[in-house]
Amino acid sequence: MIKFEHVGLRYGVGPEVLTDIDFTLEPGSFHFLTGPSGSGKTSLMTLMYLGRKPTRGLVTMFGQNINQMERDKLATLRQRIGVVFQDFRLLNHLSAFDNVALPLRIAGRPEKEIKDNVDELLEWVGLGEHKNVLPLTMSGGQQQRVAIARAVIARPKLLLADEPTGNLDDEIGFRLMNLFDQLNRMGTTIVIATHNQKIMDEFGHSRLVLDSGTLKIEAPKNWIQKKIEGVF
Ligand SMILES: Nc1ncnc2c1ncn2[C@@H]1O[C@H](COP(=O)(O)OP(=O)(O)OP(=O)(O)O)[C@@H](O)[C@H]1O
Ligand SMILES: [Mg+2]
Repeated sequence: MIKFEHVGLRYGVGPEVLTDIDFTLEPGSFHFLTGPSGSGKTSLMTLMYLGRKPTRGLVTMFGQNINQMERDKLATLRQRIGVVFQDFRLLNHLSAFDNVALPLRIAGRPEKEIKDNVDELLEWVGLGEHKNVLPLTMSGGQQQRVAIARAVIARPKLLLADEPTGNLDDEIGFRLMNLFDQLNRMGTTIVIATHNQKIMDEFGHSRLVLDSGTLKIEAPKNWIQKKIEGVF
């Protein structure tokens, strides 16, 4: 699904913020991406959602080398990726409903199906009463839930979520983690950037740990137990 080989990234003439990143994520896998503030989590996410190309090394997504890929081809690939941005990036002139409906409208789904699916998901994330509200009049946590609903509504092949529970209390945070788990069981590959130790401990997925621009992969602590139980 995702393969990085000796990838480096720098912004402009600044220092490399990602250095020699090497990893492979299998289709259908679920990972946490963690590391201190400024370690490069959002930068790595940006490469994975094809928002930037690496300054060195090779990035392969969906089996295709993206280094030489042209803009329109990148845009087509991006339609398979759901993204929850750290700063949400909602369209502020559109209601919560229309923000969430956007990926389905782009995919040309019929309006009746869109209404049913968006209403159900907004209800599920606790925003049933807020569907006609504009983002800027919502709280941070409400905007974050709209961003999450928009990222998952079209059942993407890959979901990238950057601190998706950062503005949420534990109860709604865990509820949304269960939503990601459900999506993962239907085949979506998932990478979630988080600092939330409780969530990482509760949902024992492997961890991609960034430190000063380099990455190592840690199996979950309860990995062996899960293997015995046949979960893996
Ligand atoms: N657009 C940019 N232009 C220049 N430098 C940038 C840009 N975005 C990030 N950086 C730098 O890249 C490094 C990594 O930043 P990044 O935002 O990827 O970290 P992060 O792990 O997501 O941090 P946080 O946990 O605070 O969200 C930092 O040194 C940051 O200053
Ligand atoms: Mg970040």
